[in-house]
Amino acid sequence: MNIQLAQLMRAMINYDSGDVPRIQHFVKVHDFAATIGISENLDEETQLILEAAAILHDIGIHLAEVKYGNCNGKAQEELGPNEARKLLTEVGGFTEAQTERICWLIGHHHTYDNVKTADHRILLEADFLVNSFEDNLDVKGIMAFRKRVFRSTYAIDILDKMWKIEKA
Ligand SMILES: [Fe+2]
Repeated sequence: MNIQLAQLMRAMINYDSGDVPRIQHFVKVHDFAATIGISENLDEETQLILEAAAILHDIGIHLAEVKYGNCNGKAQEELGPNEARKLLTEVGGFTEAQTERICWLIGHHHTYDNVKTADHRILLEADFLVNSFEDNLDVKGIMAFRKRVFRSTYAIDILDKMWKIEKA
């Protein structure tokens, strides 16, 4: 994590002020994403985009709750990017292309089909590593998601070590 990401992390903590579970959630998702991205040898630019997206990925939740009365994935995907853009602009230093890519990822962080890029893939994997615990998933649910979404070598390795999956 560099200074720019640390500033973004603080801005997001401020945005979610008082909502301890959500702050804890994105800090963990960011850390898994950073670990997997570096392990998978992402280039510096992609790593920065991935880490920023991981910090901001659930930013649409509060608005989704206000607008739709729930925080389902699709509502978050719809409402997240605009909120993210505000925070990225406030923190500064992100290029137009970086901002657009980060916002695209936030708009697709509950889209599991047709995943074509490492940043998108790793964001989904990192989010699930945290959600598999926070949502109290059973082994069947974990294995189904593993099969459907997990592709990165080190994400699979972390999931398997975390849940002691011996053979899949
Ligand atoms: Fe999440």
